[in-house]
Amino acid sequence: MNPPPIASLQNTANTAPDAVSRCFALVPCAGSGSRAGTAQPKQYEPIAGKSMVMHTLAALGSVERLSQVVVVVSPDDSHAWPQAPEWPANFQRVACGGATRAESVFNGLTQLLEEGRRNPKGVQAHDWILVHDAARCLITAVEINRLIDECLHDDVGGLLAIPLPDTLKAAVNGRVSQTLPRQDKWLAQTPQMFRAGQLHAALKAKAADHFEGITDEASAMEMAGFSPKLVVGSPHNFKVTYPPDFALAEDLLRSRK
Ligand code: CTP
Ligand code: MG
Repeated sequence: MNPPPIASLQNTANTAPDAVSRCFALVPCAGSGSRAGTAQPKQYEPIAGKSMVMHTLAALGSVERLSQVVVVVSPDDSHAWPQAPEWPANFQRVACGGATRAESVFNGLTQLLEEGRRNPKGVQAHDWILVHDAARCLITAVEINRLIDECLHDDVGGLLAIPLPDTLKAAVNGRVSQTLPRQDKWLAQTPQMFRAGQLHAALKAKAADHFEGITDEASAMEMAGFSPKLVVGSPHNFKVTYPPDFALAEDLLRSRK
């Protein structure tokens, strides 16, 4: 079935343009880091004096416009998390991570919206959710604030991304089959910022398919017929994925001190 036209989906009942919309952060932190080659999940590896995820959370925690930062961990997470004051009052952990990143985000968002139905201080459908990978520990407050500034009055929301800098090749059996045009290509990063209700509905529509093809929040929104806004990020905001990425992240974090 074709998605409904974009115009008909914008400003649906999930959004309440007159209500004051707040911004919340949701951090998927339930992966195993299989490509990183670390003994423990990569987000808990020490980098420049503290665990990777605590650098990520420090950046999010420094953005005053984020009412709350919610970390989605695996149900069997055994990490020794810091206590207050290192763990601020507006940080929360929910142990409902799933088998895929999309499932972790969906489960976390479902729980937050359920809490919001019981408590008006919690996340409401028209509030903004900024989903940010625990493994992108080089994010800065400047970039998060740029995304919020660019999306706060947008009908859809958007994501940090960078225009593709290199020539793009398609390959077959390790040899170039084609050079692809790069002019319209962007590398998607996080945070990705959407209305909580609309993002939840977009993910829910793919839950029965095990979120097939959903590699980020924007892809779920696209499948629901929306066209997310691209906001220029920084190449430093890479996702720590492979073994050499740890040393690069360490150097960059130490250079900021
Ligand atoms: N993530 C998650 N739940 C999953 C898988 C991933 O919350 N089931 C989180 C990761 O913890 C990470 C972010 O999503 O912060 C981005 O995913 P990725 O970099 O792919 O991390 P992993 O899936 O852990 O790594 P890999 O794909 O190499 O196994
Ligand atoms: Mg992964």
